[in-house]
Amino acid sequence: MGDQPQPMRAIAAGVILAVENGQSLSQCLPPALNRLAVHERAELQALCFGTCRWFHRLDAELSGRLKKPLRKPDRIVHHLMLVALFQLRFSQQATYAVLNETVEACRALGKPHLTGLVNGVLRAAEREGAPEPGDDAARFSHSHWMVEKLRHNWPEDWQRILEANNTQAPMTLRVNALRFARDEYLALLAEAGIDASATPFAPFGIQLARPVPVDHLPWFADGAVSVQDEAAQLSTTLMDLAPGQRVLDACAAPGGKTCAILEACAGLAEVVAIDESADRLPRVQENLERLDLSATLKQADAAATDTWWDGDPFDRILLDVPCSASGVIRRHPDIKMLRRESDVTPLAAVQLGLLDALWAILKPGGRLVYATCSVFPQENHRIIQRFRKGQTDAVLVEPQAQWGRDMGAGRQLLPDPDSHDGFFYAVLEKPEP
Ligand SMILES: C[S@@+](CC[C@H](N)C(=O)[O-])C[C@H]1O[C@@H](n2cnc3c(N)ncnc32)[C@H](O)[C@@H]1O
Repeated sequence: MGDQPQPMRAIAAGVILAVENGQSLSQCLPPALNRLAVHERAELQALCFGTCRWFHRLDAELSGRLKKPLRKPDRIVHHLMLVALFQLRFSQQATYAVLNETVEACRALGKPHLTGLVNGVLRAAEREGAPEPGDDAARFSHSHWMVEKLRHNWPEDWQRILEANNTQAPMTLRVNALRFARDEYLALLAEAGIDASATPFAPFGIQLARPVPVDHLPWFADGAVSVQDEAAQLSTTLMDLAPGQRVLDACAAPGGKTCAILEACAGLAEVVAIDESADRLPRVQENLERLDLSATLKQADAAATDTWWDGDPFDRILLDVPCSASGVIRRHPDIKMLRRESDVTPLAAVQLGLLDALWAILKPGGRLVYATCSVFPQENHRIIQRFRKGQTDAVLVEPQAQWGRDMGAGRQLLPDPDSHDGFFYAVLEKPEP
């Protein structure tokens, strides 16, 4: 391969292989993008996102077309063919270009002995068209376990959830209420020729008709708006924020909700933002700086309160726990490949542990909002039910909300192709003695 720049498809195949080996797109895509000229980067991103999104369907087709699996050292050629199949099935690219450039990429990957196979498989795929999916995993392009879990959890909705996961999420903004009223910012967008509308549920939200680069958004660098899904924005509507309160954002990075809290209520006494990840915590600081906001940042395991807590209880706690992220698959299609069924039970243990530990440092009369971007009840209302069995002083507050559905112990939003992500919220209050 020497010093020759690699063709885009070869780079994309390397990215998909890295995801199969456990890296997230947010880890392995940025270095891959940096290997290309700026004008080629959007195409590589689209190839990688699209191939992950349709991985399970494409992989079922490709496996059916191969007489036997490729040897381990040649595995990257399998991914190269997946990228090509994605283009044949889901893009407008001319077939001859896909075929020629994939064969070229195969050579560039140092696998000239496989160019005949690649050519033959792709020609047959083009000639014969897409096969009828053999099962629901291929049909909906998700892993078997995820299809079965969703079918079990959501007998009425599972197909809609799976279909929504395969759509491209809209771009949604949160207007910085300290700078602009939402209508004012909508007018600025209209002047800039950007088609947008107010979100129905989140008071500062704006959904764009089509995504645009953030530097096209009026006053973005000056902190006028942030990119944040509508469901994620709802956290502040549940916190009942008021000046003078001491607020904890217990799992804060990259800081979307920390910033939303500070924008939603001027005059909070202090916002403490914790994250255990040293890599992710600086992102909170970057976001605060762009928005000209400030918070107390700590790198810690929030559940180990003896390591970071100063003994002064919090009026409000936002607990946006680590979770399966099964509600945001359309934004992170690599989750389909990365998440294992065996991840969910340990995550639920961490979630319950965080909730138990942080309940102890909530002031009597205070409120805790529990949030996930998951659609699995195991991480959502069942955590709240399990928690309340052990905490007799936790009062469940039913939000007066137009969104989502009442699960008896919190509200669930399912991903909606035309608007918000999948999310879960529960509101708990600690009574005064
Ligand atoms: C769902 S993300 C938070 C998203 C963030 N609230 C936002 O809106 O931008 C969960 C975060 O929890 C962090 N985390 C996981 N376990 C933690 C723990 N025990 N203590 C503190 N942070 C933790 C992860 O590093 C991750 O950044």
